[in-house]
Amino acid sequence: MTESLIEETRKQLRREAQGAMSLTIAFIGVVNGLFEILHRLGAAGVDDIAKNAAMDAAYVRRWVDAAYAFGYLDLDGTSFHLSEKGDMMRPSHPETLMPIAIGSVLSTHMADRAAELMPTGERPGEKVLGERKTILPWFGAMLEANFSGLFEREISPRLSVYKELDKKGGTVVDLGCGNGWYLRALAKRCPGIRGSGIDGFDENIRRAQHLAKDQGFSDRLTFRVGDIKSFAQEAPVDLIAMNRALHHVWDEKESVFRILENHVLPEGAVVIWEPAWPDNPADLREPRKRPLAVQNLGEHVQGNHLLRPEEIAEAFRTVGMDPEIHLFSEGAEAVIVGRKA
Ligand SMILES: C[S@@+](CC[C@H](N)C(=O)[O-])C[C@H]1O[C@@H](n2cnc3c(N)ncnc32)[C@H](O)[C@@H]1O
Repeated sequence: MTESLIEETRKQLRREAQGAMSLTIAFIGVVNGLFEILHRLGAAGVDDIAKNAAMDAAYVRRWVDAAYAFGYLDLDGTSFHLSEKGDMMRPSHPETLMPIAIGSVLSTHMADRAAELMPTGERPGEKVLGERKTILPWFGAMLEANFSGLFEREISPRLSVYKELDKKGGTVVDLGCGNGWYLRALAKRCPGIRGSGIDGFDENIRRAQHLAKDQGFSDRLTFRVGDIKSFAQEAPVDLIAMNRALHHVWDEKESVFRILENHVLPEGAVVIWEPAWPDNPADLREPRKRPLAVQNLGEHVQGNHLLRPEEIAEAFRTVGMDPEIHLFSEGAEAVIVGRKA
């Protein structure tokens, strides 16, 4: 390597390190409500920000310096106000950048756990996600902010299954529903449907119930705690959805796919949305697919792994269903629609 290439590489890695620093500072502002407070106050001094956010002023002073350094805040005399970038970090901003900050610190946490566990091979499971009490409450909101726009702008208009559902109405089950954003989006898209969400984590169910009520959907959407692996209900439904949940139960895929096939009506469909693990390792170099490799390391710690769309299609065929693969986000996201043959 030449001297100038060494210097260029060093500079590049330092720029990348600063990107990570910037997101850790944004993370603190998101989870402690500081961006929202600053939006409400307009311009404020450190003590005012601390008082309104009910935070320690000495910590807030350090955070404000760092948020200013990275361009989230601007300074006018001794008063700070949000820059345009800082404003977009507000979780309530319609185009919020919040999931980038939460995802960045979550990846760091998973990387730290992977580094620690690699010598023994231990895989502690999904409880790892709950180890950081600042991250867990934001997980559902992060997924919603990351994926509801993609669903509304691209997935829902392109897939005929949603047009059919809108036309005939009916019932939908969302297995592994998280905070319930998908059923809320679907209820908005298809006014004639009713939905029920199932999740193994009771905090998610409480959150989903609260958000559905808050947004006026509680007469059409219900949520309950349950295990996908033993899901059962008497009446089959028009659509079963599983968004980013199949890889959590892939160890029992044979029985899960039998459950899916048993619970969908003959004219209905099962829609599975998963990150798309590429067939060709060289694809992982594509900027849009790189994060899949980092996610898969975190999934490994949790006892899971990401799936290739074709593996999911094959699982549909084993229960006599016809799969159709649709790719989005430059091939990083896959939606596989299965219908009874
Ligand atoms: C990555 S999150 C996706 C949440 C939601 N579908 C979304 O797209 O925002 C996976 C969800 O599956 C749930 N889950 C994982 N294994 C489950 C199981 N065996 N039974 C029920 N829920 C499960 C988790 O609690 C979590 O909410």
